[in-house]
Amino acid sequence: MIKGIGSKGKAKARGKAVAAEPLAAGPRHVAIIMDGNGRWAQQRGRPRLFGHHAGAKRVREIVEACPDLGVKYVTIFAFSTENWKRTQTEVAGLMSLFRRYIQKEARDMKEEGVRVRFIGDRVKLDKALVKLMDELEEFTSECDRVNLTIAINYGGRDEVARATKRLAEDVAAGKLDPESIDEETLPKYLDTCLLPDPDLVIRTSGEARISNFLLWQSAYAEYEFIETLWPDFTAEIFAGIVSSYAGRDRRFGGVKNG
Ligand code: FPP
Repeated sequence: MIKGIGSKGKAKARGKAVAAEPLAAGPRHVAIIMDGNGRWAQQRGRPRLFGHHAGAKRVREIVEACPDLGVKYVTIFAFSTENWKRTQTEVAGLMSLFRRYIQKEARDMKEEGVRVRFIGDRVKLDKALVKLMDELEEFTSECDRVNLTIAINYGGRDEVARATKRLAEDVAAGKLDPESIDEETLPKYLDTCLLPDPDLVIRTSGEARISNFLLWQSAYAEYEFIETLWPDFTAEIFAGIVSSYAGRDRRFGGVKNG
């Protein structure tokens, strides 16, 4: 048992179902850019970290809604490689929030069948946080109801650069023939190598950009940009977006059948 993880508390009852039946043609993997915490706090005359704490509370509700919606994978953008440019207070507050979140939620996540993984470069992160991340991955490794991937110190370009470095090392070591490299090769070196590509990417807070999130993986994803600030994003809003996805016509560059 991890010190500080799952040492007390009992899983709370699951949130109410937001859809009676899984959606047959719904997205299997939803990626979310959780934006708008700062503005949400500002609107209330509170510090930005107040918004991040409110945002963290939303994560559980969204993850709990996934099984009923047929969403097997959910990936959330918690801290980007660019977020280090924020004030020291905000960065330290977010890192502390991640540590506390892991310690507080680990047991419930396991009981809810949530398998947690982290993506991003861990080298720059605090060792105590990395230890908790490793332990939570191990602690939930048998879970398979829903897969939650949390991106911390993640950037799509950084991920491709790190993957390319490892790929080049394999070529230099004679483990990989350059002639064999095709578009199936690089994904095996990405942080997301165990995940399917996202079918749907949601960004809250009205900004219509992808901010270096899952650049390679989202090549054929559908995008949904909504005005709601992340701390106001509910399971009902999530269910509505997932339902509307089912009506989209994804052709992956081909033409419609018939
Ligand atoms: C972007 O909103 C949000 C972040 C950089 C942090 C996201 C973190 C959380 C939702 C909470 C922690 C998550 C976990 C998994 C514990 P912003 O601050 O850029 O908002 P703004 O654009 O309104 O300033």
